[in-house]
Amino acid sequence: MGDTSSNDILVSFRGVQKSYDGENLIVKDLNLDIRKGEFLTLLGPSGSGKTTSLMMLAGFETPTAGEITLAGKRLNNVPPHKRDIGMVFQNYALFPHMTVAENLAFPLTVRGMSKADVAEKVKRSLSMVQLDAFSGRYPAQLSGGQQQRVALARALVFEPQLVLMDEPLGALDKQLREHMQMEIKHIHQRLGVTVVYVTHDQSEALTMSDRVAVFHQGEIQQIAPPRELYEAPCNTFVAQFIGENNRFAGELVSRDGDNCTVQLSRGEKVQALAVNVGQPGDSVSLSIRPERIRLNAAAEGCDNRFSGRVSEFIYLGDHVRVRLEVCGKTDFFVKQPIAELDTALAVGDVIPLGWQVEHVRALDPQLAE
Ligand SMILES: Nc1ncnc2c1ncn2[C@@H]1O[C@H](COP(=O)(O)OP(=O)(O)O)[C@@H](O)[C@H]1O
Ligand SMILES: [Mg+2]
Repeated sequence: MGDTSSNDILVSFRGVQKSYDGENLIVKDLNLDIRKGEFLTLLGPSGSGKTTSLMMLAGFETPTAGEITLAGKRLNNVPPHKRDIGMVFQNYALFPHMTVAENLAFPLTVRGMSKADVAEKVKRSLSMVQLDAFSGRYPAQLSGGQQQRVALARALVFEPQLVLMDEPLGALDKQLREHMQMEIKHIHQRLGVTVVYVTHDQSEALTMSDRVAVFHQGEIQQIAPPRELYEAPCNTFVAQFIGENNRFAGELVSRDGDNCTVQLSRGEKVQALAVNVGQPGDSVSLSIRPERIRLNAAAEGCDNRFSGRVSEFIYLGDHVRVRLEVCGKTDFFVKQPIAELDTALAVGDVIPLGWQVEHVRALDPQLAE
């Protein structure tokens, strides 16, 4: 997205902390700028503080310290209904005694809009979520996916500048969830509204977002576009949380500019990118994505070359996961596209393998086994 001047920023968290019991900080020191029009996802394991952060932005929780601004204005004492923010949650929260049309009209009526305008906007937002024929139904007469569409339409109907969604698809089955992911993403693209989305599902975050903020223990570990998050995780937590990786525990031997040499516990040396390492002698954790490993002849030009003993093939249609024992690690995985797999390869074979220095990241040891 290039440079961001303060004009491009819609929401700012500055030094925001939250404690529910006056003792433990659930959100530790949140500093976050959300750009106008972006789709930003807060991603992290359960309990990492995502909902708490969203609730402070929505106005349902008060920060213990720090401040939040929306369009340059301090929000701390503005009640939720005055924040011009649309919201969608997992449990829909549609009014059960109101029809679909009445549910959609509600946010407009409370804002004092005329009957004619209300009717017009309700009609338009119903067609946005392709529920034109359902305006007279009650929520109980709709499927889960349809209810979620109504909730989405209701959050957007008053054209807020910001929409918050907290695990909105969590209750849907996989197929419908993936369909709704694309639908929400396309609505976002069409309307240009700013979206802050919460999920614990990494593939959902990667699919939908312009940027993803990875939460862990009340702190943002990394905030980046999906591709950067996957290709260039800044620490072991992010590397482990996003996508699959092979990990080795080792010790830093030396640094040489952007690269470093790491010695594994059995003595092998690996050339790696020095991403997040300390001093020689310090523990490090190496992370290598399974699709970056080269086998047999393809390993010849690699900076790091070892051998591996094949122990298992797992066929997944378009690719095969090959489990090998490499440098004493018995669960080392290689991902091979079907077309590239050597059909003569068999369990028990010992083969050369390798990877380039830019595909192995030396990171903090925190979660190393
Ligand atoms: N209203 C509350 N009162 C006390 N503790 C809470 C409350 N809401 C959340 N927590 C605690 O704060 C932590 C973070 O919760 P939450 O923000 O819901 O995380 P996430 O949405 O990432 O799963 C959890 O340990 C949770 O138990
Ligand atoms: Mg939550």
